[in-house]
Amino acid sequence: IQAEALEKIAQADKMNQLQDIKVAYLGKKGSLTGVLRGMGKLSKEERPVVGEIANRVRESITAALNEKNEALEKIALEEQLEAEAVDVSLPGRPVPNGGPHLLTSIVEEIEDLFIGMGFEVREGPEVETDYFNFEALNLPKNHPARDMQDTFYITNELLMRTHTSPVQARTMKGNEESSPVKMICPGKVYRRDTDDATHSHQFTQIEGLYVDRDVRMSDLKGVLDKFAKKMFGSDREIRLRPSFFPFTEPSVEMDISCKVCHGEGCSVCKHSGWIEILGGGMVHPNVLEMAGYDPKEFSGFAFGMGPERIAMLKYGINDIRQFYLNDKRFLKQYHKA
Ligand code: PHE
Repeated sequence: IQAEALEKIAQADKMNQLQDIKVAYLGKKGSLTGVLRGMGKLSKEERPVVGEIANRVRESITAALNEKNEALEKIALEEQLEAEAVDVSLPGRPVPNGGPHLLTSIVEEIEDLFIGMGFEVREGPEVETDYFNFEALNLPKNHPARDMQDTFYITNELLMRTHTSPVQARTMKGNEESSPVKMICPGKVYRRDTDDATHSHQFTQIEGLYVDRDVRMSDLKGVLDKFAKKMFGSDREIRLRPSFFPFTEPSVEMDISCKVCHGEGCSVCKHSGWIEILGGGMVHPNVLEMAGYDPKEFSGFAFGMGPERIAMLKYGINDIRQFYLNDKRFLKQYHKA
């Protein structure tokens, strides 16, 4: 029995074979068990001898089973390790990089330029009151200049802001001590326009406001010149043209020179050599007064620009709708590596 069992154990190469062998020899109906059972029929002298032999046989079979079991487990583990091995030298699968939206990048770039000139960044609500969007900006009810901005009204008194200029009034009014203010405010604005290549019912503006004692038009010009050169290149010139806004006096529009043309960007400039990029002026005394500032003591400048327009000019983009379509093929071109 022993020799036969050990031979079978040696040949076994699967766990379940070992189990079968165990049952066949040591199980209830196993052959060794049968020998032990038959001991009752043996004589007194034979019993201990046979018992001892049977026990030795059981021990050796059990030991051989355990040993083989361990060996098979080890092989199985090695096979598993081999099958699950990771080749660390393989190149990884590339994960495509995301990146900020072009509009976000441009707004942040503009913010950085003005932060560098000492401006704080402020925000204001997109749902605005008639008071802050118009009245506090020297645009009383029925003022004809309200027609310049077709408005989405929510109620008689509530509307979607048509520009970021209400944040001028909010900032000054919210300043209890009426102390100097130097801020920019980026944000979404809304107009009842039909969307086309150069119009959108929702777009972005960045407002600027600097109020202090002795702020002059030359300060406005200096700040804007610095901005234009940093944004578009030191070879750019700016030009201020007289204009009209009810909340600034005098009012200007600013053009930037296109003398140095880079490929597609040229087309935006046409033939004049100048392109308008923002409106601004000296804060109207009425606006200062309504916000609690004494116009005899304080003066200030304000401006408002459209970052979409700036980006279109900078990158030669000819359709404002590109900013809102979320076409990845368009946006990806402006992701920094
Ligand atoms: N709010 C004006 C507009 O949207 C721009 C502007 C801002 C003009 C500040 C003057 C001063 O057209």
